Amino acid sequence: MHFLSFTPILLLQLTNLPVLHAAKWTYTGQEGQQYWSKHYPYCGGSFQSPIDIESELLRFDPTLGPVEVQNYDLSSDEQLTLGNNGHSVQLSLPHKMYISSLPHRYTAAQLHLHWGSTSKPAGSEHLVNSQQYAAELHVVHFNSDKYPNMSMAVDKSDGLAVLGVLIEVGEFNPAFEHFLKFINDVKYSDQRVQIPGFNIRALLPVRLDEYFRYDGSLTTPPCYPSVLWTVFRNHVTISHKQFLALATTLYSSHTQDSTAVPLNSNFRKPQPADSRVVLVSFKEGRGLHGTLTVTSPLMRKRIIQQLLVGDLADLEDEGLYQLLPSGPEQLRAGKKNDLKDKQSESLAKYKQQTLNPSLRKKSQTNRSVGKFGLAEDTLSYVSLEQRVFHQLKQSHSEDQLVQALRDVVFPELNLKSYLGCRSDLALPTIKNILRGRPTDEAFELDHSLTKAFMGQGKTSTVIKKSVPTTNYGRPSPAAPRKPYSQGYPHPWLLPMEWED
Ligand SMILES: *[C@@H]1O[C@H](CO)[C@@H](O)[C@H](O)[C@H]1NC(C)=O
Ligand SMILES: *[C@@H]1O[C@H](CO)[C@@H](O)[C@H](O)[C@H]1NC(C)=O
Ligand SMILES: [Zn+2]
Repeated sequence: MHFLSFTPILLLQLTNLPVLHAAKWTYTGQEGQQYWSKHYPYCGGSFQSPIDIESELLRFDPTLGPVEVQNYDLSSDEQLTLGNNGHSVQLSLPHKMYISSLPHRYTAAQLHLHWGSTSKPAGSEHLVNSQQYAAELHVVHFNSDKYPNMSMAVDKSDGLAVLGVLIEVGEFNPAFEHFLKFINDVKYSDQRVQIPGFNIRALLPVRLDEYFRYDGSLTTPPCYPSVLWTVFRNHVTISHKQFLALATTLYSSHTQDSTAVPLNSNFRKPQPADSRVVLVSFKEGRGLHGTLTVTSPLMRKRIIQQLLVGDLADLEDEGLYQLLPSGPEQLRAGKKNDLKDKQSESLAKYKQQTLNPSLRKKSQTNRSVGKFGLAEDTLSYVSLEQRVFHQLKQSHSEDQLVQALRDVVFPELNLKSYLGCRSDLALPTIKNILRGRPTDEAFELDHSLTKAFMGQGKTSTVIKKSVPTTNYGRPSPAAPRKPYSQGYPHPWLLPMEWED
């Protein structure tokens, strides 16, 4: 997805930023995607999009209801701006359109597409079990309960929600024709044209109740991990002719440029899962038989609470397996039933313990079992980047920005996402929490977990994936001083009174 409309970039104002955020970027070549992180460090960071939505990542979430959209049926009296921004064709959307089925209201801002080329028609960003579709539609919304506009929302961890629609070549699609018939008017970068409104709902698949949901990012620079992604399970079709119009009409160059550069294959490659999982709203169908049901948020909060303020010796004796990522990878790693049994055994035991009235009472009187007030807290990526950059500058290691940002951001996002059921808990996050408890028990637990993760062959999945691959192949710098360290890894996690 990609947020740049014709809002000439908020980021230009940030003159004290280390890198010029308006730097040119492309999909291939000298400014191609493998170099984006040079100017846009979050592109080399955590929780990036798109991803390959593989069966092993899926977790069924019975609480996911149908996606509901409001005021999508626009009248033809309404004028919309269709434009070529050099990276995609984009249609502005009126603010009366919004998603009503998420915890906040997410107001529509624009839609745009990603597509392949005539020689290589596959051009969707998300893959489903490694299958790439011909194209992909992104309908971009921002959290208007919390932010006044797109510019303010784009760099916040709860800023955006995007609806993704996979597109295959097949039947002619009359809904897409409402704007495709005007793309000849926006052949060159920065051209735009006013077109009549139409029913935007008709661009989406018929079924809005079947979808994938995960935590991810903008798929274009600056790649902020600010997007709650919804990718519909069912694709839509456009005709071969419609696909050709998309793939052959547009240029990423300006009218006056001497060489015309065709605009196609504008998709980003799939990014590492980073210990994320993909929630699914449906449980029937091919390949879904083994899909695990996600563990409850309540259980997750309790585990984190125990790490924060609970008895670590207990965790080490009984609950180690609670902390290990669950899922089919683990089952594949051998020791199948053994591990699984241990895990469910200890989960059951843990549940029993926490539900035991006397223990609970103890929790209530102290040991502040928590409620984290997550909804109220956000990361702000632009200011975080500034802070981390200034810290690095003091030690003359500005070139470590990608890695340092990642070291700060990953545990935060992983924890938040874990509590929202959209990640497994990763070892760096646990270590990060335990760092706030410099006791022997914490040390012991840390040690055992490291061993357990290793023993599980987890290095090749969770741990390795949480170590970034940067273009700067240097050893990891010392983690920068934590911007908000007050004994707790994050203000979200300040213990609070238990609330049932
Ligand atoms: C977005 O909102 C902020 C804060 O109200 C304002 O300063 C800024 O000019 C707005 N940006 C746009 C593009 O409307
Ligand atoms: C609970 O812990 C807090 C600090 O974490 C302390 O101030 C308070 O006195 C404790 N309450 C009881 C009942 O022990
Ligand atoms: Zn996009």
